[in-house]
Amino acid sequence: MAPPGRRERPFSSGRFPGLLLATLVLQLSSFSDACEAPPTFEAMELIGKPKPYYKVGERVDYKCKKGYFYIPPLATHSICDRNHTWLPVSDEGCYREMCPHIQDPLNGEAILVNGSYEFGSELHFICNEGYYLIGKDILYCELKDTVAIWSDKPPLCEKILCTPPPKIKNGKHTFSEVEVFEYLDAVTYSCDPAPGPDPFSLIGESMIYCGNNSTWSHAAPECKVVKCRFPVVENGKQISGFGKKFYYKATVMFECDKGYYLNGSDKIVCESNSTWDPPVPKCLKGPRPTYKPPVSNYPGYPKPDEGILNSLDDWVIALIVIVIVVAVAVICVALYRFLQGRKKKGKADGGPEYATYQMKSTAPAEQRG
Ligand SMILES: *[C@@H]1O[C@H](CO)[C@@H](O)[C@H](O)[C@H]1NC(C)=O
Ligand SMILES: *[C@@H]1O[C@H](CO)[C@@H](O)[C@H](O)[C@H]1NC(C)=O
Ligand SMILES: *[C@@H]1O[C@H](CO)[C@@H](O)[C@H](O)[C@H]1NC(C)=O
Ligand SMILES: *[C@@H]1O[C@H](CO)[C@@H](O)[C@H](O)[C@H]1NC(C)=O
Ligand SMILES: *[C@@H]1O[C@H](CO)[C@@H](O)[C@H](O)[C@H]1NC(C)=O
Ligand SMILES: *[C@@H]1O[C@H](CO)[C@@H](O)[C@H](O)[C@H]1NC(C)=O
Repeated sequence: MAPPGRRERPFSSGRFPGLLLATLVLQLSSFSDACEAPPTFEAMELIGKPKPYYKVGERVDYKCKKGYFYIPPLATHSICDRNHTWLPVSDEGCYREMCPHIQDPLNGEAILVNGSYEFGSELHFICNEGYYLIGKDILYCELKDTVAIWSDKPPLCEKILCTPPPKIKNGKHTFSEVEVFEYLDAVTYSCDPAPGPDPFSLIGESMIYCGNNSTWSHAAPECKVVKCRFPVVENGKQISGFGKKFYYKATVMFECDKGYYLNGSDKIVCESNSTWDPPVPKCLKGPRPTYKPPVSNYPGYPKPDEGILNSLDDWVIALIVIVIVVAVAVICVALYRFLQGRKKKGKADGGPEYATYQMKSTAPAEQRG
């Protein structure tokens, strides 16, 4: 059981008490098993080379690994016990080296996401609203040789500033003399009075503000004459949005005369390219399809389309088929009963059965006559 060569092994300590202890250990090991390799740890390592076998009572010592430092009082040694076991020992007394403390940046915050400054942890930076980050937003605490250091220098939080917003043709914006705009500073655009009969329309956002990326929240609007042609709908009439001129966003609604139905949208809007969107509708002659509700422009009703027409056709076909099937069935029953009645006629002319039959059909009347 004992490993080979153990008895021959010379005692390292020449001192008498050591020799006595070693002799005792040797004796104990002769009737109990020796220990094998001592436990290994993440944060500490064995002092000296590990041996394949250890005698019962033999002691091993550990030290904290590179990048870790020891804080008492937890023991860093173990002793080989009987039964192949080592007395319990842990590396919890070895602490990771820590990176230097970093303060919150001015107008920002440093967040220790792993809750410690030990190497392996991360420090995240965010800037207050209205400020932007210059530098790395994440720093890593890394072990360089035996010291823990941050992967980069901490970032800065700078105030968000915008350059003046764009100047536009045929229009102007407020604060036009201001050189530098701060976060959320806003300007409002307006169009100049037009030289001609038609005014300029402002297309886009009239108010824009200095936003997160030191960029304006929206593109500058456009000022131009937008004029849609008078929307003529033959055999129909306007029902709202009356006017002589139709500028940007003018909205007109239509209705067809009696005997005509609307093809297109009943509502059109004058768009920035001076066209109606959707296009001006038509009033087409013909019976208004029966599925159309009596009230025109009924808001909840879907636009007439082929889908509804098709499903309507299907219904009609289905109805015809049902009528034919029922008719055939009735005729068959009638014929059967008629033939039955003829058979019975020889024996008993006109039973109760015959009477009911008479009520249902006129055929027997001819038969009697
Ligand atoms: C030795 O191990 C056995 C089984 O693994 C256990 O029953 C026994 O209690 C142990 N003896 C000591 C002294 O720990
Ligand atoms: C630290 O936290 C980050 C983010 O939660 C995670 O990805 C990383 O693995 C953590 N590191 C350690 C050593 O726990
Ligand atoms: C700027 O970004 C921050 C954080 O993402 C957000 O809370 C804020 O609403 C943004 N501001 C604007 C004007 O979009
Ligand atoms: C800021 O810029 C980035 C890329 O440059 C973009 O993805 C983001 O949408 C921008 N945010 C704002 C609020 O404009
Ligand atoms: C309605 O107009 C569209 C094109 O504008 C056309 O394709 C469609 O056939 C018309 N419908 C009817 C029932 O005339
Ligand atoms: C005008 O604008 C509308 C909607 O923006 C678009 O549907 C239409 O195609 C445009 N027409 C022309 C001629 O550009």
